[in-house]
Amino acid sequence: MAIGVFDSGVGGLTVHRELVNRFPDRDFIYFADQANAPIGGKTGEQIVDLTRGGCETLFDAGASLVVLACNTASAVALRRLQQTWIPEQKARYGRPVNVLGIIVPTIEAATGLPWTYEADLTARDDKVEAIDITGVFSTAATAISRVYEIEIDKRREDLAVFSEPCPGLAGLIELGATTEELKVVVDEHVDALRRRIGRHPDTAILGCTHYEIVADLFAGALPPGTPLIHQPTAVADALERYFARHPEYDLGSSGRRSFLTSGTAGPQSDMVNQFWGAPLAFEAI
Ligand code: DGL
Repeated sequence: MAIGVFDSGVGGLTVHRELVNRFPDRDFIYFADQANAPIGGKTGEQIVDLTRGGCETLFDAGASLVVLACNTASAVALRRLQQTWIPEQKARYGRPVNVLGIIVPTIEAATGLPWTYEADLTARDDKVEAIDITGVFSTAATAISRVYEIEIDKRREDLAVFSEPCPGLAGLIELGATTEELKVVVDEHVDALRRRIGRHPDTAILGCTHYEIVADLFAGALPPGTPLIHQPTAVADALERYFARHPEYDLGSSGRRSFLTSGTAGPQSDMVNQFWGAPLAFEAI
């Protein structure tokens, strides 16, 4: 059995890389649904269907736990699948199976508070003196869900969240666009957010796992030293705690790695190989 990692494409590798470093003895199956990438501009129903399909592929391949290494799937599909679909899958596969997302750990890292923290909303001050701004760069579907705005606002009244949807950026990364082409798009979005807020954000969340591959471009477009919340580390920290609480999942112990795609088998782009640190080839399912 194994840990399954799902994304529409290569973006989830950013989370996957952190997970294999953190849990080297566990078995991992990565599934990139590249035949349907990018998903960030699709409807909610389409995103739910594709996420369910991705989980099925991974459970069929031997995963017990699936990590949605995708903000879009986590924001739009996770709760629906956990509530209405996962309970039946335990009986179907005859073993404990579950699906987890990446937004909860990211909110915890961004707020510095545990997910279970409940702010006293009745004691809110009308005049909060110091407001820091968190900028969230994401797909259109994640921005429309407003998950970062809603969940951060529940916990921290001194943090204002502004989302900047970057439609097209994940698709360009998926197609292996050059650094120069990607820099133009990243600069445009960082500048669009600055114009909308009236200044740059104090911290930023790269709320689409594809963007972590070009984190240097975001860091270069934002004022020097702007902290970027590192989603892969936040996810690995949260999973470490989850595994300790849930020994019922069989996550394998032979360090096996496989990389599956619904798209074309073979090597990934130079940028992805560089990010991964070695040539990476996907196997077609
Ligand atoms: N990497 C994904 C995310 O974090 C999806 C990008 C896409 O397919 O549009 O949202």
